[in-house]
Amino acid sequence: MSRIVQYSRYGGPEVLDIVEVAEPHAGPGEVRVAVRSAGLNNFDSKVRRSPALLPHRVLPSGQGSEFAGVIDELGDGVSTAVVGDEVLGWSNFTAQADFVVVPAGHVAPKPGGLGWATAGGLGLVGNTAERSTRAVTPRRGETVLVSAAAGGVGLFAAQLAIAEGAIVVGTASEGNHDYLRGLGIIPVAYGPGMVDRLRAAAPQGIDALIDNAGRETVEAAIELGVDPKRINSIVYFEGAAEYGISNVGGGGKKSEDLGRLARLVTDGTILLPIAATYPLDEVRGAYEQLESRHLRGKIVLTLP
Ligand SMILES: NC(=O)c1ccc[n+]([C@@H]2O[C@H](COP(=O)([O-])OP(=O)(O)OC[C@H]3O[C@@H](n4cnc5c(N)ncnc54)[C@H](OP(=O)(O)O)[C@@H]3O)[C@@H](O)[C@H]2O)c1
Repeated sequence: MSRIVQYSRYGGPEVLDIVEVAEPHAGPGEVRVAVRSAGLNNFDSKVRRSPALLPHRVLPSGQGSEFAGVIDELGDGVSTAVVGDEVLGWSNFTAQADFVVVPAGHVAPKPGGLGWATAGGLGLVGNTAERSTRAVTPRRGETVLVSAAAGGVGLFAAQLAIAEGAIVVGTASEGNHDYLRGLGIIPVAYGPGMVDRLRAAAPQGIDALIDNAGRETVEAAIELGVDPKRINSIVYFEGAAEYGISNVGGGGKKSEDLGRLARLVTDGTILLPIAATYPLDEVRGAYEQLESRHLRGKIVLTLP
């Protein structure tokens, strides 16, 4: 049997259950992974709470789209992996389980130096951060604003922009400011008065915005003269029609890209902190913490 996280009605973390189902098996071209860790993302919560978001979904649904674990079964025709390989990968709302079955191309090797919790939590934020950072092409010496800079996507994006040579200003609540400073990010509190604080923090001006928070930061950047072509938001989708900004988010995942992001985290170029880990059967508490929206890094379910 395999334990899976499942919900049969839309709602908050209280609708999540651990259900025992028959073990899945790898079909042609697929691998089965014995899961060691599976990350939580806000998108899981949004989909679970909003029937209209993905209208063709049928309940019951599993949950979680990123994982790390050990390949324990190969389907016919798979030549890119062997049983025992340690991998990280992505799936479509099935990752939070004892076993996950995915196409062999949806996993990448887990570097030996990468811990299980981090490996299971980096795929979605890494992919999203990389694509949204590329959308504004930060250049050496430019000043880039990153909102929600202490969150999973924001912290990753801020560090990618710094690696490109940009000066990064990041919005966060006060409790995260020393932490961001330690990573070379100039912290600014969001909320009323943010525009003035941004002016003071970046008197040289802001060249681009990587937005992970929404309308407030996008409008602040526009007020500060940032060209909408150099603003990308993964949250404020109306901003494309209203201001001409871009909305490049996660997607187009490739095994090579996931492997490269994993190496960036393993070699220390990117720090991906783990805010908390929970056992699978405490998944409700894990999402309650996630949905409090004031995290420093990732929440990950870990399996023995
Ligand atoms: N479109 C896509 O492809 C895509 C992909 C991934 C994520 N997303 C979305 O992007 C957002 C961020 O995701 P995440 O995984 O990084 O979230 P997360 O790890 O949960 O982080 C949330 C962060 O938001 C900050 N925050 C809360 N209220 C804020 C405000 N009013 N202004 C600025 N920051 C605020 C918090 O900062 P403090 O603790 O410092 O207050 C916290 O660090 C979520 O809405 C998520 O659904 C979209």
